[in-house]
Amino acid sequence: MYQKMKGTYDLLPEQTRKYQQLEKVIRNVSKIFNYNEIRTPIFEATNLFHRGVGETTDIVSKETYTFTDRGKRSNTLRPEGTAGVVRSYIENKLYAAKIPVQKLYYVGPMFRYERPQKGRYRQFLQFGAEAFGSSSPMLDAEVISYAVSILRALKIKDVTVHVNSIGDDESKQKYREALVSYLDGKVDTLCSDCHNRFKTNPLRILDCKIDKDSDVLKNAPKPVQYLTESAKEHFDNVIKYLEAMEIDYIVDESLVRGLDYYTHTVFEVNAHLDSLGAQNTICGGGRYDNLVESLGGPKTPGVGFAFGMERLMFALESINFLGEPEYLHLYMMVLGEEQKEEGMKLLNRCRLGGLISDIDFLDKGMKPQFKLAANLKARFIAIYGEEEQKQGVINLKDQESGEQITIKKEKLYNKIITELMNPSSNCTDCAEESCDSCE
Ligand code: HAM
Repeated sequence: MYQKMKGTYDLLPEQTRKYQQLEKVIRNVSKIFNYNEIRTPIFEATNLFHRGVGETTDIVSKETYTFTDRGKRSNTLRPEGTAGVVRSYIENKLYAAKIPVQKLYYVGPMFRYERPQKGRYRQFLQFGAEAFGSSSPMLDAEVISYAVSILRALKIKDVTVHVNSIGDDESKQKYREALVSYLDGKVDTLCSDCHNRFKTNPLRILDCKIDKDSDVLKNAPKPVQYLTESAKEHFDNVIKYLEAMEIDYIVDESLVRGLDYYTHTVFEVNAHLDSLGAQNTICGGGRYDNLVESLGGPKTPGVGFAFGMERLMFALESINFLGEPEYLHLYMMVLGEEQKEEGMKLLNRCRLGGLISDIDFLDKGMKPQFKLAANLKARFIAIYGEEEQKQGVINLKDQESGEQITIKKEKLYNKIITELMNPSSNCTDCAEESCDSCE
């Protein structure tokens, strides 16, 4: 028997429905913030991620799914969404669009070859947002407020928003130098990967999964101490706008994030859930003012975030968000070969009118069909057999009230709609053509 690949999962219909609901909330909030959906390919040229996310980041150096296609090109399954969206932004010249600040969001699968555990998968879903074209701290604050609004709309309360600034190029350079001189002589106490990082990209030592709790890293200098005046002003303004919008946050001076493209604001949202264990970061993001240019576009600032949808779902389940129940409006119970044609006709009419409806395809008798209708959580069961056909009627059972009535078969759709819209209009004499409530 084949089994799913390690780090992947199936979403069976019941879980899929919950994801659809989650996406519905995400799309509603996105609309309120005026972000529009973009869909980009799940694979891109490998080089895009090397240049975009950073050659020496864990994501690119250890976790990519890369393959050579039949045309001998190197492709990589996207490990994150930002690089692809930036590529698309440049390729489609969105920087020249009539609306100068482009606000985009996406929902889709990402791929990282990580060690799977609860909340960490090799194929996972991200909902992300990217806003291009403004270096205003208002946009950083808007993006954070958008992320927080998603959580509010989902009623996920027990979260902490961590924000920090790593500053502009000059601040980052000064910080890098300070970090290197601090780590010089201490690096031997860190893991072998950190030895390499020290030579290639010392900032990445700070998000090492192995050494993150070591005293050496805890006591390392913090980026905020090396911010230039203008970088500091930018960060102060972000905080000012967060305060204005009454968004709870904590400044976390150790936060640097694991991707190379960030400048200025970085942020993460942690959910306080025992079930998520170490994987409690449900959202991460920040500003990236050099990325568009470094990928070949005009100098354009950007800022964004991404949520891990599975982690969001864990947070939702822990507050008993169960989604819409599965149900049918109508189960069409046809009893007999001769009745099938009319049964299909009536079913089709009800479906054309928008009723969620189903029928038996296995020639089952009455009893198993009642059982099936109950399993499908049908509100109404329309029974159509030989006797009903002779009289031109249909028996309609309301599973909620338990009542059963006989109506002219042509009135089936109207009667169900009337009942669904106006549950009090119980008519006991519906077989009569003159009855108002089922007209
Ligand atoms: P990231 O921090 O790498 O940032 O990922 C964002 C979120 O994706 C994480 O906080 C986590 O919830 C989820 N996530 C990451 N890896 C996994 C995994 N293996 N399994 C399950 N969930 C995972 C980015 O991807 C950036 N592109 C975010 C961004 C957008 N920054 C600016 N714009």
